[in-house]
Formats: sequence, structure tokens, C-alpha cells
Amino acid sequence: MAVKVAIIFYSMYGHVRKLAEAEKKGVEAAGGQADLFQIKETLPSEVTTKMHAPPQDESIPFATPDTMKEYNTFLFGVPTRYGNYSAQWKTFIDQLGQLWMSGALAGKYFGLFVSTASQGGGQESTAIAALSSWAHQGMIYVPLGYAHAFGIQTDLTEARGGSPWGAGTYAAGDGSRQPSAKELELAEIQGKQFAITVGKTADGTTTAAPAKKEEPINPAPTNGATSDEKTTAAPTPATKTDQTAPTPTTEKDDKDGKFCGMKCVVL
Ligand SMILES: Cc1cc2nc3c(=O)[nH]c(=O)nc-3n(C[C@H](O)[C@H](O)[C@H](O)COP(=O)(O)O)c2cc1C
Repeated sequence: MAVKVAIIFYSMYGHVRKLAEAEKKGVEAAGGQADLFQIKETLPSEVTTKMHAPPQDESIPFATPDTMKEYNTFLFGVPTRYGNYSAQWKTFIDQLGQLWMSGALAGKYFGLFVSTASQGGGQESTAIAALSSWAHQGMIYVPLGYAHAFGIQTDLTEARGGSPWGAGTYAAGDGSRQPSAKELELAEIQGKQFAITVGKTADGTTTAAPAKKEEPINPAPTNGATSDEKTTAAPTPATKTDQTAPTPTTEKDDKDGKFCGMKCVVL
């Protein structure tokens, strides 16, 4: 059965929306279905006009508490406010008290992605702040990590949003910067890996099969597991589309430190 992901975002100026669309492409590349929802504006139009925000595009449906009931897996897009959740998002979350009391969201999966004006403006703190609300609901956080995006995550050649907590973009103080190619690629990788991860059943079988077979660029790291050993955390081999360096899993693999520039953990 294909994984069905609700991608719920708030985006005042469109940056998070662009990441959401890239996440959707990634989910679909993994054979999953992704449906976009947005969080309703809570500020009065006199205020949003003064903030130079365009009117919300009503062609994308608004998320409601029922959306949270209907889907089992979610990707949340959050533009930072003071390094934290936006009030629009918080207003939505504050409507989920009934679901919290009944445990309706417990065991459902989520990942997240963010936007900030600047470097150091809250890429990581926004993600961390977001965890509390969903932890109280008993939901299971699926981070982006490094495994399928090592090259981008460690690339220092240009300013780039995103972290192991999730994809991200820098909008600049005046909103003039648009998501870069690397930021969009990271969002796509996140969508794809999220769908693959949540599609795994407890015995490690993947139900969200990739749409097309991709040629591995390096042998699959096995973490010592033999082919007939079941593991729920079997790493997916890096592929050309993931564009990453191989993930070193043993000191032997990386004895020169050429992949991570540091002494890697021996698993
Ligand atoms: C009230 C307010 C507070 C903000 N706080 C921060 C902040 O703490 N750090 C930061 O880098 N950007 C901050 N921003 C910038 C927004 O995060 C930025 O406009 C947003 O990420 C753009 O995404 P969007 O186009 O999807 O709305 C703030 C913006 C507003 C309106």
C-alpha cells in the first residue's frame, strides 16, 4: 500500500511553500502519495498588508483537526518566528486538544522543514521547539539526518538552509532570497526518505517502493547485517539522485577520514 503523506505548511511569503512542493516530489519519487495543506492565516488583513504579504492562495486546502485524524504520516513546514513556531501554526496546534486527550495521534509519524531569514535565525531551534507539541501527542519524529544527504549537509561552499533536523531555506531579511537548488534538493531527499522510512513495516520490509529502480553508486552499507538478517533500520543505498558521498559505517571504510573529515564512529 502506498504511503499517504499530508504535507502541512504555513508560508507567508512562499518560501516554505516551495520547500513543501519539493518534499511532495520526493514522496512521489518513493512511490508515495503526498497531499498539500496550508495553515490558515490568523493575522488581520490590515496587518498582513503592512507586512507586504500576498493574500493566501485558496487553491490549497486548509488543514483542520480532521486532517490530522485522516492521515497517519505528516511533513510540517514551519517559517520561524523568533527562532520558534509561528503563531499561525500554534493556533492550529491549539485546536488539537481533543485529539491529544483521546490519544488519536499517538504513533503517527512526522518530519519537519523550516525557513528563516538568516543563518543562525533558528533553523535548528525552530525544529527543536516543534518537537514538544508533537511529543505530547505521542507522535514519532523522523529526522532527515545525514545518511542520504551527506554531501549537501556537509557542503560549506555556499550559504544553505537545512540541517539533520529537516530541510530548510534562508529567505533573507526582506524575503528576497528564494530557495536554492541545494535547499530544494535536500527537501526532495527528505520527502523521499521520509516516505521510505514510514513505509517500512516492523520487520524492515519497505512498502513505499521507489517508483523506478535506481542504480546504486556504491555498494549498500550493511552495518554487518547479512542478507537474510532482518533489520528495521536497514540503510537504503545512496543513489545518484541522492548525490551523496557514501556513508561511512566503519572506521575501516573511512580510515583516512576522507568522507567526514573526522574520526567516524565504528558501528
Ligand atoms: C514576526 C516575525 C519574526 C521573525 N523571526 C525570525 C527569526 O527569529 N529569525 C529569522 O531568521 N527570521 C525570522 N523571521 C523571518 C521569517 O522566518 C521569514 O519571513 C520566513 O521564514 C519566510 O518564509 P515564508 O516565505 O514561507 O513565509 C521573522 C518574521 C516575522 C514576521
